[in-house]
Amino acid sequence: MIEIVIATKNRGKISEIMEIISVEKVRLVDLHQLSFSGTIEERGKTFKENALVKAEAVYERYGIPAIADDSGLCVAYLDGKPGVRSARFAGPDASDEENNRLLMKKLQGVPWSERGAWFMCSAVFYYGPATYYVTEGRVNGIITEKCEGEGGFGYDPFFYLPSLRKTMAQLEKAEKNRISHRALAFRALRKHIEEYVADIATR
Ligand code: IMP
Repeated sequence: MIEIVIATKNRGKISEIMEIISVEKVRLVDLHQLSFSGTIEERGKTFKENALVKAEAVYERYGIPAIADDSGLCVAYLDGKPGVRSARFAGPDASDEENNRLLMKKLQGVPWSERGAWFMCSAVFYYGPATYYVTEGRVNGIITEKCEGEGGFGYDPFFYLPSLRKTMAQLEKAEKNRISHRALAFRALRKHIEEYVADIATR
């Protein structure tokens, strides 16, 4: 069995990633199982930089291949903000509610045609010194004026998907996991992990 660490402590993400990246001959472990303590600072300017920092730090600490991601919401009218600062949009320890309130304030009076937005996710598989794969996933939508739906987290209740006529928060969990930015990025990453595993097996 080849061990790969999921470089996050977020239990929601762990189960989502486990579902997508179940590859034969791979045993996925998470940071709770490794009793990882401390935090990894996300100071990068891009999702890719942040995902890379997380995966690299965990690889360096344990010497085991690591996968990590970073994601957020980008709003066209706000020149791509909040972007990498999505979790901290309204302040360092902001709640989802506070972030959404600020988003509504900044988009007050902005017409529907200018409320385009996208969720982005960068995923990284880091498997040797400075050796890694990066994949990205993006899903487009429109920021609503009122929240709708109870599911998901973060900006989901305000993120409307025109093709499904629902907000992200109105989707069933399985449906979100099929179409989300994270699902797209990790599905693409899975292919690289399979190649890596096949390569090791032939050595
Ligand atoms: P991170 O990838 O855990 O750093 O996520 C950063 C932030 O982006 C989260 O705290 C949310 O505010 C936002 N975000 C990322 N993915 C989603 C999503 O699927 N739905 C809603 N908000 C998200």
